This record gives sequence, C-alpha cells and structure tokens, in this order.
Amino acid sequence: MAYSEGMNQYFITGVSSGIGLALVKELLAQGGELTIHGCSRRDPGINDPRFHFYPIDLSNTNELEQKAHDFFTVEPWDFKRLVLVNNAGILGEVAFIGEQQAKHYISTFTVNALAPVIFSEVFIKLFQYTDPERIIFNISSGAANKDMEGWAAYCASKAALDRFTSVCAQEQTHKETPIEVYSISPGVIDTAMQAEIRSASKDKFPALDRFLTLHQDGELLPADDAARKLILLLNKPDLRKQPLLSLRNI
Ligand SMILES: NC(=O)c1ccc[n+]([C@@H]2O[C@H](COP(=O)([O-])OP(=O)(O)OC[C@H]3O[C@@H](n4cnc5c(N)ncnc54)[C@H](OP(=O)(O)O)[C@@H]3O)[C@@H](O)[C@H]2O)c1
Repeated sequence: MAYSEGMNQYFITGVSSGIGLALVKELLAQGGELTIHGCSRRDPGINDPRFHFYPIDLSNTNELEQKAHDFFTVEPWDFKRLVLVNNAGILGEVAFIGEQQAKHYISTFTVNALAPVIFSEVFIKLFQYTDPERIIFNISSGAANKDMEGWAAYCASKAALDRFTSVCAQEQTHKETPIEVYSISPGVIDTAMQAEIRSASKDKFPALDRFLTLHQDGELLPADDAARKLILLLNKPDLRKQPLLSLRNI
C-alpha cells in the first residue's frame, strides 16, 4: 500500500455536542490540510467540505465492529497523520446499584468502554503496519479513579477504558511501527453532560452539591478550551509522556 505526504485525517466519535463538537470546530478553524470524519446519532450540521458526518449509534453492540470498519475505510489511505478520538460517552442512569435496570448498564458500558475498545481494535488492525504518525485518544474521566456514588456504570466503564488503554500502549512498545494510544481525562467541562449531572437528585447522587457549586463558581472549563488543549496535546509530543493523561495538567 502506498502512502503519500497527504493530509491529516481525524476520526472523532461524539461530534454532535460538547467536547467532540468543539474539537471539530477548532480543528477546522485552525486550518491546514485536514479531513475530519465524525460520527454520532445527531448530525452536528457542519457545512464544510473538510468534514464528513456518519450517523452511527455506538450503543448497538453487535454492529460496532462493522461500523468501525466502515468508518475507517471511507477514504483512500493518504495521510501524514491519522488520529482517532474516541470521545462519545454517556453518564447513563444516575442511581445506586440495586436500583437500576440491566439495560442501563449495557448501554453505558457499550458506549463508554466497548465502542472505544472495538474502534481501537479495528483502527490498530487496519493501520498497524503503516509509517505515518497514528494516535488514539480515548476520552476518559477522573471518575475512572474515583468512587462516585450513583455513577457505578460510568466509573467502571471509564476505569475499563483506562486499563485497556494502558495495556494497549504497552503492547505497542513491541511493534516496529507503534501506534500511540492515550486515555485522557478532560476535567470538568461545560457541556450537556455536566447539565445532566446537575439535574440528578441528591438521594441518587450524594455529590450533587459539589457539581452545583463548581457551576455556580464558574469553575467549568468551556468545551472550546478543552478542544484547544487536546489539539495542543496532539501537536506537542513532549506533553504525551504516559498513557494516562489529564487536560488539567496541560
Ligand atoms: N463534560 C465533562 O465534564 C466531562 C468530564 C469527564 C469526562 N467527560 C467525557 O468527555 C466525553 C464527551 O462528553 P461531553 O461532556 O462533551 O458530553 P456531551 O455534550 O453529552 O456529548 C456526548 C457526545 O457523545 C455522543 N454519543 C452519546 N451516545 C452516543 C451513541 N449511542 N452513539 C453515538 N454517539 C453517542 C453524543 O452524540 P449523540 O447524542 O448525537 O449520539 C455527543 O456527541 C465523554 O466521553 C465524557 O464521558 C466529560
């Protein structure tokens, strides 16, 4: 397979809102030769020839492998940098264990853990033996390392994503043409997910007051800032020293 000095290609999940949408807009605004392939259920309505939208529901467990394959093989492989950002995520039902329905665990684990795992698997299979820079960013959460009552599925799915990422990063050290893979905790970002967090009831989510206070005190980082930090992380290899990263330190 021949590779030319082509453009940067980005594959981003969860582009209809929040961090994913901000990342698409910021990449387009920064210019340069690039193509962005974005997926989510809702169309973000971005009218730019460099952006291509794919309606994909990442909670459809049995379709993930095929959807990932279709997503990554949409273009001729002509790139100088190839980036996969597994950003799509859901909080899932906020409730204590024992008061939830199995289907909520299934959707939360599927969107937050299984989808990025399978998208990474297919990406690595397709692009392992290529020369250009290839990077995977899995968007994780501080909740991967913190017990948040009411968020069991969210915490556990993000913890699974972190562990998958660090095993993957270690495996890549054995490869001749390694792919870089990172799990990135964005911090507290002003998105629809944070609004959803604040709408939970305190009996199901005892830490509610902390999130209300963060919002009242203006402590949430705008999604645009998170997007700019992600781009900085992509452009400055020195900032990517270990597989588990936080935007708080960028
Ligand atoms: N905001 C924060 O403070 C914060 C903190 C830590 C981690 N994070 C992580 O950051 C990432 C982005 O979150 P956000 O805050 O930007 O949330 P958001 O505004 O709610 O955006 C979530 C994105 O995920 C997509 N998504 C959700 N379910 C999907 C599905 N079944 N299939 C395809 N796409 C789906 C949504 O698109 P559709 O609904 O159109 O499908 C949307 O584009 C998530 O992984 C989240 O866990 C956020």
